[in-house]
Amino acid sequence: MAARLMDGKAIAAEIRQELMVSVAAFLEHGHPRPCLAAVLVGEDAASQVYVRNKQRACEQVGIDSQLHRLPETTTQDELLQTVGNLNRDNGVHGILIQLPLPSQIDETQVLDAVAPLKDVDAFHPTNVGLISQGRPRYLPCTPHGIQQLLHRCEVTTAGRHAVVIGRSDIVGKPMAMLLAARDSTCGPAVANATVSVCHSRTADLTDITRQADLLIAAIGRPKSITADMVKSGAVVVDVGINRTDEGLVGDVDFAAVREVASQITPVPGGVGPLTVAMLLFNTLSAARHQHAHQNGESPRS
Ligand code: GUN
Repeated sequence: MAARLMDGKAIAAEIRQELMVSVAAFLEHGHPRPCLAAVLVGEDAASQVYVRNKQRACEQVGIDSQLHRLPETTTQDELLQTVGNLNRDNGVHGILIQLPLPSQIDETQVLDAVAPLKDVDAFHPTNVGLISQGRPRYLPCTPHGIQQLLHRCEVTTAGRHAVVIGRSDIVGKPMAMLLAARDSTCGPAVANATVSVCHSRTADLTDITRQADLLIAAIGRPKSITADMVKSGAVVVDVGINRTDEGLVGDVDFAAVREVASQITPVPGGVGPLTVAMLLFNTLSAARHQHAHQNGESPRS
């Protein structure tokens, strides 16, 4: 029987609806409207679409957004200057540096320059360290979105074998940390997994993926997860967004794998919309943190 579709688009809409209510309540308490500043360097077509989607989503839930567009030829110092200005601007709560950056830019130095309290991507080493110690301030948007998706599709991971393919700082590494943690924003049922991380040097990849109760593909290679790599009844989450002649294609051979899996995410309409929804969640959270910081309170008040 074909797998059930995990409808990321519908679940993201549900989360945005909840956020709209939370933002309205935040404003009613006399707090400033949360504001996200996106920095886009250069003309990358996909990045332009992503940033536009993020801005539109902000607007929908009542979050202000700013777009800082810089030319492809921007220097390291100019970009650091922009980040510094945004760090000092009390009207900006979240800063997002859209990746990838042009090759003349030292990405690590730029991401490290974002004030940790405004780091809504959760890329700053301080925020990554807090996650690794099980006391997160902000959660990285894609892994957090996947946890929300699993929770809302009634998938539990506690005691199960989760296999993450890909070890990127944005998805693979933080996803593995969140799944192996003792607890999550969705409770302990969507944590406490036994986690394997596979990558380009993994030997006998299929042997490992076939053991997965939950398979998360974040490789960046179209249709590279085939049906023979998936255990019958596994839950399959496809993080890939690959532009091909066929259009947008995931890392999973969707048509074949859906005949084996119990639940599967489509591409598009799976993980992508959740990443955006969790960015909005982090921006509201960042506004809370900064208000609390400025008033010497705890962030939840
Ligand atoms: N480029 C691709 N994914 C992301 C993301 O999650 N955050 C940022 N800032 N850039 C990206």
